[in-house]
Amino acid sequence: MHKFSFLLLVFSISFHTLFSQTAQHFPYKNSKLSAEERIKDLMGRMTLEEKAGQLNQLNGGIFTGPALENPGQKAKMQLVREGRVGSFLNVSGVAETKAIQKIAVEGSRLGIPLLFALDVIHGYKTIFPIPLAEACSWDLKGIEKNASIAAKEASAAGLHWTFAPMCDISNDIRWGRVMEGAGEDPWYGGLVAAARVKGFQGNLNDESHILACVKHFAGYGAVESGREYNQTDFSHVALWNKYLPPYKAALDAGAATVMNGFNVLDGVPVSANAYLVTDILKKKWKFNGLLVSDWASFEEMIDWGHAENKKDAVMKAINAGSMVDMQSRTLITYLPELVTEGKVSIEKVDDAVKRLLQIKFQLGLFDAPYKFSNEEREINELFTSSDANREVARDAAKKSIVLLKNDNNVLPIPKMIKNIAVIGPLAVSKEDMFDFWVAKGDNRLAVPIASGIAGMVDTKGYSFKFNFSNGYHLNGKINDTLINQALASCANAGIICVNIGLSGNLAGEDRSLSSPEIPENQVALLKALQKTGKPIVAIVSSGRPLILTKIEPLVSAILQTWILGSETGNAVADVLSGDYNPSGKTVMTFPYSAGQIPIYYNHFNTGRPIGKSDGSWRSRYRDVPNEPLYPFGYGLSYTTFAYSSFKLSSPTTIKGGVITASITVTNSGKYEGEEVSQLYIQDVAASIVRPVKELKGFQKFALKPGESKTLQFSISDKELSFFDGDGNTKLEEGKFKVYIGTDSKNVQVLDLELK
Ligand code: GLC
Repeated sequence: MHKFSFLLLVFSISFHTLFSQTAQHFPYKNSKLSAEERIKDLMGRMTLEEKAGQLNQLNGGIFTGPALENPGQKAKMQLVREGRVGSFLNVSGVAETKAIQKIAVEGSRLGIPLLFALDVIHGYKTIFPIPLAEACSWDLKGIEKNASIAAKEASAAGLHWTFAPMCDISNDIRWGRVMEGAGEDPWYGGLVAAARVKGFQGNLNDESHILACVKHFAGYGAVESGREYNQTDFSHVALWNKYLPPYKAALDAGAATVMNGFNVLDGVPVSANAYLVTDILKKKWKFNGLLVSDWASFEEMIDWGHAENKKDAVMKAINAGSMVDMQSRTLITYLPELVTEGKVSIEKVDDAVKRLLQIKFQLGLFDAPYKFSNEEREINELFTSSDANREVARDAAKKSIVLLKNDNNVLPIPKMIKNIAVIGPLAVSKEDMFDFWVAKGDNRLAVPIASGIAGMVDTKGYSFKFNFSNGYHLNGKINDTLINQALASCANAGIICVNIGLSGNLAGEDRSLSSPEIPENQVALLKALQKTGKPIVAIVSSGRPLILTKIEPLVSAILQTWILGSETGNAVADVLSGDYNPSGKTVMTFPYSAGQIPIYYNHFNTGRPIGKSDGSWRSRYRDVPNEPLYPFGYGLSYTTFAYSSFKLSSPTTIKGGVITASITVTNSGKYEGEEVSQLYIQDVAASIVRPVKELKGFQKFALKPGESKTLQFSISDKELSFFDGDGNTKLEEGKFKVYIGTDSKNVQVLDLELK
């Protein structure tokens, strides 16, 4: 036998022997056994410190929270070697993650692989529109696809886990994190969350998908005054009807993990709130995945005034049913002694550890710990095929844009225009195309709005002269010099595009604003420009609805472009040129004034609704209207849609019954366009007061000029029921109203009775 093949034979025999001995002596390493059997064997071998270690999530190089004393890299790797780390956050890249994984798998006693997590909120390298913008597309398949691309890129960079979707319902644009959610409606927020979970996770059976994380459980979006990390105080009726539905929908879509919030429920921090974490999440909803704290949210219970000290905080969190401690390392410090002292049961610890190990086995990390560490795939996914990903991002971005105003149809910009003025520093700022949650997005590759518009000459058949001027300093005062320069730059302009709004860095966590307005220097600029009598298009860049009341009368058109990510400029150009007829509809109310906040469409009627009498003694303001500037579900098109023939298959229905609401929509304009028709239900009289409207259906479809489509919506128990304060589903006979229309205000209504 040839020497080489002899050596190969010896090697394979010895490897096989070693493997079978390993597998015999360490069943948890035997891929022929079930995960259950392997976990049982492994847990039987783990010390209490090693079990606590699995529940310890260390932070990597970047900070997404207060920099409490952070151990250096050497100390972190020593903890990994000691088997006292179960996962990392804020690490990424094959090189970094593979090196750490190697220490865990080959350098620790039991070789348990680690999970690596990062906030891949709307893209990893290719940055998609912020979730709030994406939700305005009402394109659930597109939202799922965007998440799947984010997962593909993130997993190619060695990541197993993203901390998304954020499912917190908020009615307060002062809160910077509204950019992370899907707007103010619980039902639609649930659909978007479910689409994102499916996109991120797929079936979790390949290395192109990653664990989703439903956050922040629960009710963090209710922070008082929109102030970040502030107290929350809401009824259990609101908990069940407004706040919980999106989390539940995301979990029903199979989300593998959940994250605690920073807030309180009934005065108890949610990390230690057994009603939420055990009674609802584990018992009622039978969640068998993993719960991770938010950044040091266990330890922060001391500042909340709920825990005496760190040890008390860990005890309260684990006894309530929480599991993994993100960043603070208080759990590995105190959990072993809490168990030894009988203050925390080992059963609770084992339950949490088992859930984590189940995930690691499900991802196949025990048998292939480096399956997400493929350098070649990383290069291909993040560079070679990134153009294809960017095309998807551009498609998502243009669908997220909401046309709020278009007087005299100034848009789309006519092809024969000879001169366009573009004004505003945001329009040339690459970094402001991104927000706070930008993962590994490279803003140098982002397309700013000015570039997109200038590019229309080469790519969209225009031949205009393009002038740019700043007009204002971002975060600056009124500047007459800049305003005069702007006036000069548009002297020959046929149309003036002014990019106003806020820096992208003012969107996200710890970005609450007491007055979410258009800055005064931008208003002053628009007032000056208005005097030219030229058509002005306001392009609004912001991670939240801003108060546009002051600028609305000064401009002919308003495009709400949110924060659109890598392909911003190209998407804006697609809409300005009419290559794409805007179809976005806002999923969050635009207040008329900040004093109205919180303001939202699905409000209660009150006992003295305005409009019921001569106007006195009614629920109203003396200085502003009750109505918002733009309502939930609102968005214009370059065409118009007419609604007719609204009818119900029956004016009455019964429990368990199904009736059909139908309506005909006609494209009554001269552009092909997409409409989002919305179905709302009102329970007119119920044991618990119900909102004046609740979104319960929508359809998005395209129509050519003159074309009509008859829509049908089914109405059954699901659409007519609600929760009581104990989470019981209620379906009560009586009168209902059925609304269908183009937004939450412009609707037709029919009566329905449940007998
Ligand atoms: C932050 C955020 C949370 C994020 C986590 C890790 O504080 O509240 O959404 O996932 O820390 O970055």
